[in-house]
Amino acid sequence: MQVIVSGDLARSVASGALVVPVFSDKKLEGAAADVDPKLGGVVAAALADGEHQGKPNEVALFHATGAADLGVRRVLVVGLGDRNKFELSQLAQYAGTAVRYLGKRGVRDIALTFPYEVKDAEMAASFLTEGAFVATVDTTIYRKEQERPIEIGTVTIVAGALDRGALTRGSKRGQVLGKSVNFTRRLALTPANDMTPRILAERAEEIAKKNDLGFDALDEARMKDLGMGALLGVSQGSSQPARLIVLTYDGDRNSNERLALVGKGITFDSGGISLKPAENMHEMKYDMSGGAAVIGAMRAIGKLRPKLNVVGIVPASENLPGPDATKPGDIHRAMNGKTIEIINTDAEGRLILADALAYATMKLGATRLIDCATLTGAMVISLGHSSTGAVSNDDAFADAFLRVANASGERYWRLPLYDDYLTAMKSDIADLKNTGGRAAGSLTAGAFLREFVDGRPWIHLDIAGTAYSDKEQPFQAKGPTGVPVRALVAFVEASAREAAPAEPAFDQIPVSV
Ligand code: BES
Ligand code: MN
Ligand code: ZN
Repeated sequence: MQVIVSGDLARSVASGALVVPVFSDKKLEGAAADVDPKLGGVVAAALADGEHQGKPNEVALFHATGAADLGVRRVLVVGLGDRNKFELSQLAQYAGTAVRYLGKRGVRDIALTFPYEVKDAEMAASFLTEGAFVATVDTTIYRKEQERPIEIGTVTIVAGALDRGALTRGSKRGQVLGKSVNFTRRLALTPANDMTPRILAERAEEIAKKNDLGFDALDEARMKDLGMGALLGVSQGSSQPARLIVLTYDGDRNSNERLALVGKGITFDSGGISLKPAENMHEMKYDMSGGAAVIGAMRAIGKLRPKLNVVGIVPASENLPGPDATKPGDIHRAMNGKTIEIINTDAEGRLILADALAYATMKLGATRLIDCATLTGAMVISLGHSSTGAVSNDDAFADAFLRVANASGERYWRLPLYDDYLTAMKSDIADLKNTGGRAAGSLTAGAFLREFVDGRPWIHLDIAGTAYSDKEQPFQAKGPTGVPVRALVAFVEASAREAAPAEPAFDQIPVSV
């Protein structure tokens, strides 16, 4: 799929279909107003008759057979909902809905127009392009007979009054982001027989080579030397050896600041000796979604090359029962020296993250950390599939992240980290235990992780409810969503912009008379 920016008017652009947005006030404006007279007023009539309500991602398709002087054969109206609640990031869903609707019907070329009053052209084009790429992903790759694939040849962005240079820049970013999100989704989708810690490390190494990133994968011998007893305690039940994957991007060699992105990489979570029930256990192939997102985000960062040092860390392991598996009651010592009593071997994510976070601070010079993990079923109870829960030890860091993350097209909601939650994680005989009971299960897990970041600014994202979906959306296939790649990349870019010396404001520029 290629994306081009066109200076043609909506009524003259050549494509298989022209996509026009309509808000729920059903006002005909912009591209819709431009083409509707050529269609004999069918769009206005459909809106007036209530056949299209302008609801988010609602579609109506019109053939343009009678309109000889229109450059397209079809016009697709896509709803954007309430005009006053419109956010730029909705353009990703808008484009995705159009691509999936038309692509499934064999349309190969699509021209996308903007709503009338878009201000930030660059980000608008980025969202459009990202959404178009995300929409094309095929999640039935293992089938002998493929469903009709969505094969879009050219997406044309109709510039309208917007700056074409900005649109082109944004569209390049959107392409990087959309492809990185898709890369993450494909990794997450891959079942555990094809996605072991070793294979995950190989995929990360390919990404590193292609995008000029540093790469390292610690094997179990090196982890043992470093004293990573928490991580090794999880992997000891499996014949597949663990890996600690490290991707480095040095975007600012004059700075000692380094942001660590840490993602849980459990390639299959059976629960271990504390075995999970069979129902839905197959979904635990997705338990490396956080790790896949970190690798996908590093892919995008390697291509976008922002001025910031970033290191991506993925502790990767299986969690299986077996003769060598950790038993409830066992005590393991993490790399930072803290001892952990294992109460439930199914609370394994926090154990592998503990050593990864400690490694990030003790060996990789991380000054700020964000981890993401399908960590607790309790988070699905708290926030459902609607938003990712975030906890943090630093208000300024959390505020900065949430502002950017919530504008990325993903949703985040902060939850508290009271001292009581750490109390719940205290063991009778070790420093910590790995479960704190049913109450506030996501937050006691967060309090546990905080013990491994050496007091540095840190945010924990529990993506258990948002990393994958069993519902197909108009703009996205069911399965992995790629959360939190969009937010991580946007935050890294925003941090790089903030770190750059600000240009002097106009009234501060010295003037000589
Ligand atoms: N990977 C699971 C969490 C999970 C559950 C993710 C459902 C997505 C959907 C995690 O390793 C786990 O098993 N957590 C336990 C913790 C408990 C034993 C304290 C849980 O949530 O039940
Ligand atoms: Mn588990
Ligand atoms: Zn797990």
